[in-house]
Amino acid sequence: MKRIQATAPGKIILFGEHAVVYGRPAIAVPVTEVRAKASLQASDSGFKIVASELDRTYLLAEAEPDDPLATIVQITLNYLDQAPPAATLSITSTIPLGRALGQFFGHPLLPGEVSSLVYEVEKLYHGTPSGIDNTVVAFEQPVYFVKGNANRRLQIQSPLTFVIGDTGLESPTLKVVGDLRSRWQVEPERYEGYFDEIEVIVEQAKVAMEQGRPGLPAFGKLMNENQELLQALGVSSPQLEQLIGAARRAGALGAKLSGAGWGGNMIALVPPQSEVISAVTKALTEAGATGVIVTELTVTAQSLDLVTTLRRGNA
Ligand code: PMV
Repeated sequence: MKRIQATAPGKIILFGEHAVVYGRPAIAVPVTEVRAKASLQASDSGFKIVASELDRTYLLAEAEPDDPLATIVQITLNYLDQAPPAATLSITSTIPLGRALGQFFGHPLLPGEVSSLVYEVEKLYHGTPSGIDNTVVAFEQPVYFVKGNANRRLQIQSPLTFVIGDTGLESPTLKVVGDLRSRWQVEPERYEGYFDEIEVIVEQAKVAMEQGRPGLPAFGKLMNENQELLQALGVSSPQLEQLIGAARRAGALGAKLSGAGWGGNMIALVPPQSEVISAVTKALTEAGATGVIVTELTVTAQSLDLVTTLRRGNA
């Protein structure tokens, strides 16, 4: 029987998280060392969803109305103008899910289509998402992202090596973003000032990133400066600070939290020397990281617009 498999990379936000929700630019890159998977296997019965990470199996027809996975399935099926097939969908994330459904019906979806479909669902469940996550994961390219704009792929002149450390704590994006919004509502000028400072850092980081190896020290320093502003925004935590400090002391050129904060991951830029990479990896583990990944961002082709419009109709 027909079986389709699709994957999508992980992602890290290098600069500008949170400020990006308020219209400032941000930089994010795919992490190819970890890939989320979806498989769709034709079956004899109704459309079944197997969400292994959530330890849940259920029929699409019996899903709760606010179930996020069932919603993205339904939005994608509407977009493809198809009824639910008799099939079992096994998934760990939404991007490969969209891809698998497109392939199943013989309509491979373009990155911009998958990105837009997933963004529709993020809007339903995450309040005010900037759209950076779905963009970088769907396009699998480093991206200079501004909410609502046609976003630009970033040109990388020489490989960049990052070590990612996991605090092992949940990073509840919706809660952290909502909490910051409450503080911004009380003191808008103060927080807008922080966002403006982050914007300057993102612009400088873009230049440093495009310079390649000579830009590395500046890039690391800018990560540290961005981290100070993330602290001021109130989205860091003692666990993140511990890992960030450990990475810097072990020779990282710069380190900061990545994503919403409170928990989740931090990232460290390391020089391309195996002894420093090993030292930072070891330091993070000793400082309590529950997982450490080394990822290399490779040189990219000419920068192009990442177009995120939908081709077909009714999503
Ligand atoms: O927590 P993550 O990795 O999904 O990143 C959230 C990034 C924010 O800027 C905090 C929110 C957003 O929608 O851009």
